[in-house]
Amino acid sequence: KSLKIGIIPADGIGKEVIPAAKAAIEALGSDIPQPEFIDLLAGWETFTKTGVALPQETIDVLRNECDCALFGSVSSPSKKVVGYSSPIVALRKELDLYANIRPVFSVSPEAGQKSTVDLVVVRENTECLYVKQEQQIQTENGKEARATRLITERASKRIGQIAFEIANARSRKHLTIIHKSNVLSITDGLFRETVRKVPSLSADGKYDGVTVMEQLVDSAVYRLFREPEIFDVMVAPNLYGDILSDAAAALVGSLGLVPSINAGDNFVMGEPVHGSAPDIVGKGISNPLASIRSAALMLRHLGYTKGADRLDVAVDQVVREATTLTPDLNGKSTTQEVLTAVLARL
Ligand code: NAI
Ligand code: MG
Repeated sequence: KSLKIGIIPADGIGKEVIPAAKAAIEALGSDIPQPEFIDLLAGWETFTKTGVALPQETIDVLRNECDCALFGSVSSPSKKVVGYSSPIVALRKELDLYANIRPVFSVSPEAGQKSTVDLVVVRENTECLYVKQEQQIQTENGKEARATRLITERASKRIGQIAFEIANARSRKHLTIIHKSNVLSITDGLFRETVRKVPSLSADGKYDGVTVMEQLVDSAVYRLFREPEIFDVMVAPNLYGDILSDAAAALVGSLGLVPSINAGDNFVMGEPVHGSAPDIVGKGISNPLASIRSAALMLRHLGYTKGADRLDVAVDQVVREATTLTPDLNGKSTTQEVLTAVLARL
């Protein structure tokens, strides 16, 4: 049997880094089933050409034909564009990829990485402010804009279960619940309480070894920068998790290193945490390592541990050796040169 992988580079540097991840997967040979790549469209460029940011065909092929997928990055405009909606947010919803799992760790203090960072941000991926129910009205005092923030017990419970599961499998077994329920006591309060209750729902006491801490989101960012070693697994509602993972990326030198998977009960999609990086697109210097690590996370999630390990070891070696790195990590190499270095180690 082959491994069918949907490939959605989308926009900007997604088109540079996803092909690199593809090449790294191909280099794994018999450690994984024969990969079969299926190119799929989504993104701003697709929208400008076809009027649709996420073609139905892309969703159908992912659902019906693919075992997993790799997503690059989209360039979403900062202003409202009629008919446009971010395809990554939509894909996460369509495929019910409710957990966004983002490991952030340093392998090399020499490469500008804070030595004590080894954490996983577990971000709820389907609700919070990202339900995108916004409206603007005209009042006598000018415009007024509102957004709905949705937190449900169901989504908080399942992300809580994933977070406890991940914490339990790690050596430190420590979980921090991120919220702001001192201000948002109803929405964040529900998230906090629901996640807290998760261990009591498992009759066999399997999470007994996990210690639980809480941190308000603002001071969590502060403590993340001052004493990142206090964090092991962090579980957060969608928006806080988005912000926290970019902040954590700064501690390990670059967004170009940080991978993620969007995981549901039936599907997994690897995706670098970074965006389409318009400031460097086309220069050939985007860092492909986050995408290669995302491919590794995706393979690991599917149970292809050996292939995943090989990708991770190769990336870690390239970072540690620090002779072939892109400019975001103070190197002078190109995307292609970094890929070649990874392939050589594979
Ligand atoms: P960004 O993540 O694209 O870039 C932030 C900074 O990090 C830039 O200086 C960029 O050059 C650098 N950077 C990011 N990835 C890099 C890599 N692989 N190698 C080297 N340097 C890298 O965030 P920004 O600039 O806020 O957003 C740009 C666009 O990306 C926006 O249209 C935004 O909507 C979109 N975006 C899409 C995401 C997605 O598809 N999941 C996630 C975040 C942003
Ligand atoms: Mg983000």
